[in-house]
Amino acid sequence: MSNERGRLLQERAQDLSDVLAPMTDAITFAAGARIFDQRDDGEDAYLIESGYVEIARDDNGRRHVLAVLGPGEIFGEMAAMDGLSRSASATAVHETVLVSVTREQIEAALRSVDPLAQLLVRTALGRLRAANNAGMESDTHHDEQVQARGRMAATRADAARNLRFISEMRTALEREDFVLAFQPIVSFADGRVAGVEALLRWKHAERGMVSPVEFIPAAERTGLIVPLGEWVLQKSLALFALAQTRSPRRTALPEGQFISINVSPRQLESEPSVERLARIIERAQVDPTQVKLEITEQALHDPALAMAALSRLRSTGATIAIDDFGTGYSSLTHLCRYPMDTLKVDQSFIKAIGEDLRGERVISVILGMGRALDMHAVAEGVETREQFAWLQAQGCEYGQGYLMARPLPYPKLHDALRSHFDFD
Ligand code: CMP
Ligand code: MG
Repeated sequence: MSNERGRLLQERAQDLSDVLAPMTDAITFAAGARIFDQRDDGEDAYLIESGYVEIARDDNGRRHVLAVLGPGEIFGEMAAMDGLSRSASATAVHETVLVSVTREQIEAALRSVDPLAQLLVRTALGRLRAANNAGMESDTHHDEQVQARGRMAATRADAARNLRFISEMRTALEREDFVLAFQPIVSFADGRVAGVEALLRWKHAERGMVSPVEFIPAAERTGLIVPLGEWVLQKSLALFALAQTRSPRRTALPEGQFISINVSPRQLESEPSVERLARIIERAQVDPTQVKLEITEQALHDPALAMAALSRLRSTGATIAIDDFGTGYSSLTHLCRYPMDTLKVDQSFIKAIGEDLRGERVISVILGMGRALDMHAVAEGVETREQFAWLQAQGCEYGQGYLMARPLPYPKLHDALRSHFDFD
């Protein structure tokens, strides 16, 4: 093994065992101890923390040593992934310490990746099984093989469906089959519309309107969110500018209304992508101080990157809102560290109003914190008069939700910006 590869494996082992150590106990095997036999039913895979493991196969009575694995390497992953029996035996060479990786962990890891990546992994595994068994009786029982074939078929179908979906999304972006809707954000103090949030919809030829919860995760996994997000920013600023200047009845709009646009964490990951966003804002016919970019806490996981991205975006004059506040983690660190001016209180909190006293107190604390930090607050998902009145009494600044208005198509944007809401 080259030194470089050895070093990388050591590092990976360290990372992995840091993650696994709190969940699993390390198991120690004495020199010469058998860890499992070929054809055993497999459950867990193992990561070698220290020591060496010999992997050997019995082919019609002849024993072949396939590999001697050392610290940082994983084994037993084949049966753990496909549920078939162990393709080889594993024996500790010296005293060896292993950390087990359970089938559930492996299943969860596989489920979390792109269906194509899953298909690639399962295909490679299937080919290795086939090569190992070439010209021999299979090691595995018929039932397990049937199950494994079923899983493989499902993985293939999943990957195919996902690939088709992504290619349709790509075409939709080219043909502009996406549309924007605008949801008013209302000031509790006077019932005026303070701004709107631009929301994305996909007008699918066969399926009708597809909700963003269905396509945004796939767009994020594949990176398609980057061009899609740029389209959203550019298009919503253009429409907002039009609504401001070309009023159907030549009626003036209140000043300083903002347009809020969602930006995905993926869009902040690279400098060129951030630069493109900044340029779109700078070139738009909208006063940049009216532009609010909504980011989630996930976008802040790399502090240096996030700081550079937010600084560049704010240099245009735009402001930053933290979206779905309270649902992520370490949000307080984020509030200390980053220059954000608006806090969007997640709708899961708003549901507590009138239902749960502790939940109400949490909202009060969030609102107090926002005030102390000179931030604007927007309550998301306001659906009842009771919630409206409660938030108003608490001095919450803005609210957004079905009670006031659903997201509206562009032709209704101008009138929406002039409307007024009161629920007394
Ligand atoms: P599994 O089939 O669960 O149990 C035996 C393990 O040996 C297998 O997973 C792999 O981790 C490992 N293994 C199988 N074939 C090879 C090989 N050709 N080289 C190195 N390791 C192998
Ligand atoms: Mg949002």
